[in-house]
Amino acid sequence: MYSAFLYHSQAMVPQDRDRSIYTMARAFNGPLGISGTLHRQGGTFTQYVEGPTEAVELVKANILQDSRHRNIRVVCDGPVDTRYFDGWAMGYTTEQTCCWDSWAKSAGAPSDITLAPAKRLVEFLHYAHLINLPAHHVRDVQPGMRGRLKRLLPRISGGIAHQR
Ligand SMILES: Cc1cc2nc3c(=O)[nH]c(=O)nc-3n(C[C@H](O)[C@H](O)[C@H](O)COP(=O)(O)O)c2cc1C
Repeated sequence: MYSAFLYHSQAMVPQDRDRSIYTMARAFNGPLGISGTLHRQGGTFTQYVEGPTEAVELVKANILQDSRHRNIRVVCDGPVDTRYFDGWAMGYTTEQTCCWDSWAKSAGAPSDITLAPAKRLVEFLHYAHLINLPAHHVRDVQPGMRGRLKRLLPRISGGIAHQR
C-alpha cells in the first residue's frame, strides 16, 4: 500500500544549508522506494513524500525530529494511488527556480502557500519539479511526462533552470 505525506514547516537554517538536507534525504529515501520533492519558499519548506506506507512512516519520523525546521503543519497524510515523483528520491526547488507567488496568481490559488489546499500544492510542486529538471534528465522522462513538459516549457522564460 502507498501513502503520501505533505507538510509545511518553518526553516531554521539559511537556504545555503539546504543541500545537506536534500542530499541526506536522497540517500535515505532511494533504497526505501520513497520519492518526493522539497520546495523552499522564503522561510517555508513544503515537502511531499510518497512511497510504501511503512517507508513513509520511517521517513516521517526522520523529518519530524530534525531541528533544522520547526512548526510543522501537516496538510495531508494517508493512502494514495498515484505517484507524482516516481524515480526522484527527493527533488529540490526554491522560489528562485519556481516561485509560488506568481504560480498562485496565475492559478487562482491563495497567495500564502501555507493556506493552499493539498491539490493545488501538489500541482505546484509537480510543476516546479518538472521545470527544474536539468536538460539531460528531460531526455529520460517517461513518454507521458514528455508531452506535459512540452506544454509547460514554453511558459518558462529563460528555459529550464539548472539548479538542483
Ligand atoms: C526540510 C527537511 C526535509 C527532510 N526530508 C527528509 C527525507 O525526505 N527523508 C529522510 O529520511 N529525512 C529527511 N529529513 C531528515 C534529515 O535529513 C536527517 O536525515 C535525519 O533527521 C537524520 O539526521 P541526524 O542523524 O543528523 O539526526 C529532512 C529534514 C528536513 C529539515
